[in-house]
Amino acid sequence: MSDQQVFDVPASSAARALVNAAQYDAMYKKSVEDNAGFWGEQGRRVDWIKPYTQVKDVDYTGAVRIRWYHDGTLNVAANCIDRHLAKRAKQTAIIWEGDDPSESKHITYGELAEHVGRMSNVLKAKGVKKGDRVTIYMPMIPEAAYAMLACARIGAVHSVVFGGFSPDSLAGRIVDCDSRVVITADEGLRGGKKVPLKANVDAALKQCPDVSACIVVKRTGGNVEMKSGRDVWYHEEAAKVSPDCPAEAMNAEDPLFILYTSGSTGKPKGVLHTSGGYLVYASFTHQYVFDYHEGDIYWCTADVGWVTGHSYIVYGPLANGATTLMFEGVPNYPDSSRFWQVCDKHKVNIFYTAPTAIRALMREGEAPVQKCKLDSLRLLGSVGEPINPEAWLWYHRVIGKNRCPIVDTWWQTETGGILISPLPGATKTKPGSATKPLPGVMPQIVDANGNVLEGACEGNLCIADSWPGQMRTVYGDHKRFAETYFSAYPGKYFTGDGCRRDADGYYWITGRVDDVINVSGHRMGTAEVESALVAHPQVAEAAVVGYPHDIKGQGIYAYVTLKTGVTATEELRKELVLWVRKEIGPIAAPDLIQWAPGLPKTRSGKIMRRILRKIAENEYGALGDTSTLADPNVVTDLVDNRMNR
Ligand code: WTA
Repeated sequence: MSDQQVFDVPASSAARALVNAAQYDAMYKKSVEDNAGFWGEQGRRVDWIKPYTQVKDVDYTGAVRIRWYHDGTLNVAANCIDRHLAKRAKQTAIIWEGDDPSESKHITYGELAEHVGRMSNVLKAKGVKKGDRVTIYMPMIPEAAYAMLACARIGAVHSVVFGGFSPDSLAGRIVDCDSRVVITADEGLRGGKKVPLKANVDAALKQCPDVSACIVVKRTGGNVEMKSGRDVWYHEEAAKVSPDCPAEAMNAEDPLFILYTSGSTGKPKGVLHTSGGYLVYASFTHQYVFDYHEGDIYWCTADVGWVTGHSYIVYGPLANGATTLMFEGVPNYPDSSRFWQVCDKHKVNIFYTAPTAIRALMREGEAPVQKCKLDSLRLLGSVGEPINPEAWLWYHRVIGKNRCPIVDTWWQTETGGILISPLPGATKTKPGSATKPLPGVMPQIVDANGNVLEGACEGNLCIADSWPGQMRTVYGDHKRFAETYFSAYPGKYFTGDGCRRDADGYYWITGRVDDVINVSGHRMGTAEVESALVAHPQVAEAAVVGYPHDIKGQGIYAYVTLKTGVTATEELRKELVLWVRKEIGPIAAPDLIQWAPGLPKTRSGKIMRRILRKIAENEYGALGDTSTLADPNVVTDLVDNRMNR
């Protein structure tokens, strides 16, 4: 039914937009016919130290090679700061809104330059050089952005680890990319609660003997241990250095950052993005998708620990000289009208959040929204997971007052920026559809055998050709990169998502088709949760699948087989949830644990996840073919004892 519901581009959006429907069609056509020509022009939106003469060098076959603008040099931080100073030194670059509503500040581009210069010199004083990796484990405070930009300025490669990850997860990420320097804060503050970031780093560093320096930003003033010779206070070091630091000339293909993300197997992968193409793409998409105009106040509610924070809090907006809002807190603190209060307080024009937040706030009813005016809002965005039509319609009516277009932006950590999304002045919207590809992006839907499907169809989503923001490799494991993304459908980038295309050519993402689950817009590998569970001394075996969850999109459903002689109790169930929280982080905590005397396996011992998914989804009437099971009785038991929700 929602297929039928179409929202026209509001006249006010069309009138001011950078791109209207006819212009989108023309741009798209040109971008396909002359892809290198199109991106060659777009590349000039950033400042190059040495301009490129080569635009595109891509081979999706064999070892896989992806290069953009590869003979150009630039500095990403200089593009986000220095080049704006002549015109914008006094313009706000970052509005910071604290967890406590009484705390906020404005940082101008001029101030940003000084902060980043100092942070750069502090890193240099700690011996950080071009190409070195630096791990950033920070709360949502401006220093997190300064740290990222300081790395970019001196040519170091940052790896931001979300502050909600456990010491073990942090340690794994530090070791994988061999960071010698970690930047953190004493504590974070979220929803009035303190997050022991420095204590987590201390625990992590027990496993990281090569880390020689830990730079600690004072946020709460809480009591933390400082290990002499290793730990230093940022404010003390910053006072010793100059705010001026030259920007390093970087090749377009020099790494900018690594960001770890979950896949269907093994440990999280270090997704590597490089400098030139990434920045061009972040800038291009931020400008066109959000129809960013001079003076707009733009707010993306993500955390800098995720790719959305990288591309659409820091790099895209700052490359465009925008004013970007950074929020330390959570949507429901002090109460569930906080987002809307912040919109009114800072006169936010463009608001970008995740469906899980919309659903959670929707549950609180309209009263918290009605307290606020929301008259500054012009455009709404959604990211991270499919948005259900109900949430879309609520967002449109209650938050956007039927006036603001919604951009449902589909993309991934791997893609660096948005690939499929409406353009607010060009694209009619349908609730629940990410609509159409951006210029320069060539999606294809394939069937299980890799045949490209035409017209209205459903299958697996691939991208036929590269775009400048694409990841270049898995850090330290190029073979895994080629295998993960280019081997299922040779010659194409495989996204891992299922997708439907309707008769109007609109794309509808149906969710992951691999063993990745999307919990509140956060990617989680089922294998990671399983290995955390089996690390518990009383667990023999575990299998984890996703199931539909009203607020989170997907919840985590774990089937656990206990060791012989261990009694299944409520206490143990609670203990296992806590255990996974501690091993990985709160976002990985199972929502439901079912005791499984046995797991459905084939005769060769392979767990049949298809069956476990069906049971978790309450679709046990449609289990399909179970004849290959070693012991069909196992399934009967699982169905009889499935968990209620
Ligand atoms: C899902 C987040 C539907 C998708 C930017 C993708 C979406 C995964 C959307 C990437 C959307 C993201 N509609 N699904 N608008 N946006 N996804 O790497 O399954 O954290 O593969 O990047 O989130 O998650 P990631």
